[in-house]
Amino acid sequence: AYHLENEWQKKFEKLNDLWSVRFVIFNEGKKWATLWASIISSIVMAGVVVIGWNSMSASKLAVAITASLTFANIGVQIVQMQVDMQSRMTSYDRIRFYSTNLPQEVKRSNINPIDPPEDWPNSGRIQFNNVTFRYRSGLPYVLKDVSFDLKGGEKIGVCGRTGAGKSSLLFALFRLIELDPKLQPKMIDLDTGFLVENDQTEEPNKGRVLIDEIDISKVDLSRVRRSIAIIPQDPTLFTGTLRYNLDIGGKYLNDDSRLWEVLDMVEMKDVIAGLPLGLDTQVAEGGSNFSAGQRQLICFGRAIL
Ligand SMILES: Nc1ncnc2c1ncn2[C@@H]1O[C@H](COP(=O)(O)OP(=O)(O)OP(=O)(O)O)[C@@H](O)[C@H]1O
Ligand SMILES: [Mg+2]
Repeated sequence: AYHLENEWQKKFEKLNDLWSVRFVIFNEGKKWATLWASIISSIVMAGVVVIGWNSMSASKLAVAITASLTFANIGVQIVQMQVDMQSRMTSYDRIRFYSTNLPQEVKRSNINPIDPPEDWPNSGRIQFNNVTFRYRSGLPYVLKDVSFDLKGGEKIGVCGRTGAGKSSLLFALFRLIELDPKLQPKMIDLDTGFLVENDQTEEPNKGRVLIDEIDISKVDLSRVRRSIAIIPQDPTLFTGTLRYNLDIGGKYLNDDSRLWEVLDMVEMKDVIAGLPLGLDTQVAEGGSNFSAGQRQLICFGRAIL
């Protein structure tokens, strides 16, 4: 389509070349190691024959030659296995790198940490105080000195041209971007595994976000994220049943009536009741069997639950 076949064919051939180069190097290396292992085995065998020729009886020499043949084969096999294992270990090393070496988010500021009361946030007041941040070192600020105060229960619309920074407000609210420079997770270059050095001369992120008068950077990260819900522009549905997508934590496993009640609230009850399997309908990968609006409503239901 769109006459892009040639571009994609070139891309495919290029990737194929890259793969072939590595495959050939691996195989040549293996051949080389096998060759040396075979040469050493042959020398050992020749040694057995030369030493045994005059000093052993014919029957013993025959046994010695058979045994050394077996050893020679085992030796070559050991070398080949060793080569295979070492190359497989590269994959293990990579998995280990991704599972243990990736920098993690810092849970909270250790200066005056706060454990909010059980019912926090009960009114839902959100204050942004002089919030200024960039996504990464070297990028321009997306929000500059943004301040507002939303009272609990207020419904607010934010308007702006595309790319103005509306979604970025939520990044600060969910602490996907940290405003306190001390909480900033380290960044690494995924290709090399080296730390990315931040530009020391640029101004750091600034400002505070408060929910019900509590500075969220002082609260445990998972507590913050557990306490607020989001229905994003491109809502995520997981592969599984509708029931699972609504009630991810499995809190209402024995109580379908609550799920239906919530589906009624978001006006999806009729649609889902019309499906042959109802709540047990399988959601396809990425929620592709629902429209974008329906996906948002299902996420809305999840947020309410
Ligand atoms: N993950 C990211 N890394 C770097 N820059 C980003 C990232 N996400 C957004 N930006 C930049 O931040 C700016 C604001 O983006 P944002 O997504 O907040 O816009 P928006 O107002 O929500 O736009 P839209 O109306 O299209 O949803 C844009 O210039 C964008 O290029
Ligand atoms: Mg947006």
